[in-house]
Amino acid sequence: MLNEKTIAIIKSTVPALEVHGTAITTRFYQQMFAAHPELLNIFNHANQKQGRQQTALANAVYAAAVHIDRLEAILPAVKQIAHKHRSLGVKAEHYPIVGHHLLGAIKDVLGDAATDEILGAWGEAYGVIADAFIGVEAEMYAQAEKQEGGWADFKPFKVVRKQAESSVMTSFYLEPADGSQPASFAPGQYVSVKLTVPGETYTHIRQYSLSGEPGQSAYRITVKRESGAGQPDGIVSNYLHERLNEGDAVELSAPAGDFTLAASEGNAPVALISAGSGITPMIGMLRQLKHQGRPAIFLHSAPNGGEHAFREEVRKLAESGSGIDVRYAYTRPTEEDRDAGEGAAHFGRIDEAWLRAALPQDVADCYICGPADFIKQVYRGLKANGVPPERIHYEFFGPAASVDAE
Ligand code: HEM
Repeated sequence: MLNEKTIAIIKSTVPALEVHGTAITTRFYQQMFAAHPELLNIFNHANQKQGRQQTALANAVYAAAVHIDRLEAILPAVKQIAHKHRSLGVKAEHYPIVGHHLLGAIKDVLGDAATDEILGAWGEAYGVIADAFIGVEAEMYAQAEKQEGGWADFKPFKVVRKQAESSVMTSFYLEPADGSQPASFAPGQYVSVKLTVPGETYTHIRQYSLSGEPGQSAYRITVKRESGAGQPDGIVSNYLHERLNEGDAVELSAPAGDFTLAASEGNAPVALISAGSGITPMIGMLRQLKHQGRPAIFLHSAPNGGEHAFREEVRKLAESGSGIDVRYAYTRPTEEDRDAGEGAAHFGRIDEAWLRAALPQDVADCYICGPADFIKQVYRGLKANGVPPERIHYEFFGPAASVDAE
C-alpha cells in the first residue's frame, strides 16, 4: 500500500495533471503506439482520431488517483472498465507498457515541474491502480472460461444469417465455428467482434450489444452503419454491412458488461429508454421483463420511421406480454411519418415534458442507452421528474462520458 507522503503528493498534483490531462494522454498514445504499434490491434483507431479515448483514460487515472487511499470506493467504475478490457483482450503484461508511457508523457508535458519525487509517487500510484485492474480482470477471464460454453479470449464464429432491420441497421446471427453452443448471457451485455478488414494493417475490434435471446445456438448483434460528417470513419460498420455475408467468419470474445436489469422488489414498471442503435440492449431486456411478467415502458427515439429498427419485434413482444407500454419519438420525421400521424410516433425529442406524460408516478428502475447527448438529456429529464439517481442506469455507446457534464 502507499504511504501517507505518497498519497499526499498524488492528491496535491491531481489538479495540475487534470489541467494538462488531454495533452498528457495525447502524448502518451503517440509515444506508446510508436514503440508498440501492435497495440493498434486492440485500440479503436476511430476513437483515437477523434481524441475521445484520450479523455476517458485521463479521467479514469485521475479519478482513481483521487481515491487512491480507498480504491474500493471506485470498484463499480473499475469493474465496468474491466469488463471492457476483458472483452478487448487487455492482459496483465500490457499494464507496465501503459504505465511506462504514461509516466514518460507526464514528464514530457510538465517539464521541470515533474520532480523525481512527483514521478516516483505517480509511478507507485499507477502500480496500485494497475494491480486493482489486473486482479479484477484475471477473475473475469477465469469466469468467462469457466462458464458453460464459455471461452477466455477470441474464438471463431460464423455468420449464419444476415438481416436488415431498418435502412441503417442490420442484424448478424453468429454461431461458434466449432458447432458448440455459445455461453449464455444476461440481456444488456455485449460482445467484442474482431475483424481483419482487407487493406487495413491492424485488426479492428468493436463492441456490439447482444440483441438476441440467451440460450439460442446463435448470438445476434445488430449494427448501425456509421456515416456522415463528424462521425468515426465507420470502417467496421460499413465493412460489416457491405462485405460480411452469410458463411463468413469473425472472431468474438465472450459476453461482457454490467448494464443488465437489476433484481428489484415489487411490481412497479421498469422504463427502457433508448435512441438509435441504443435499442439493441433494450430489446433483450424487454424480452426478459416480458418473461418475468413485469410491466414495462419502452420509449425509443429514432430519426424517422425508415431508420427505426425492431418496430415489428417490439410490437409482437408488447402484444404477447402484459402491461408493456410502447411509445416512439421521431426527431426528423419524413412525409410518410407525418401521414401516419402523431398516433404512430411523437414528433420531436424525448424531453422532460414528454417523459412526464409517458412515465407513471411509480416508475421503478430506468435504463437509458444511446449517444452521450441523449443520455444526458434523458438523465436530467428523469431527475427533474423526481426519479432518484440511484434508480437511473445508463450505458454510453462509445467511450464513457459524464452525465452531469454540460
Ligand atoms: C478503455 C482506463 C489500462 C486498453 C478504457 C476506458 C477507460 C480505461 C476509462 C474507457 C472505458 C469505456 O469507454 O467504457 C484505463 C486505466 C488503465 C487502463 C485507468 C490503467 C490503470 C489499459 C491497458 C490497455 C488498455 C494496459 C491495453 C494496452 C484499453 C482499450 C480501451 C480501453 C483498447 C477501449 C477504448 C479504445 O479502443 O479506444 N480504459 N485503462 N487500457 N482501454 Fe484502458
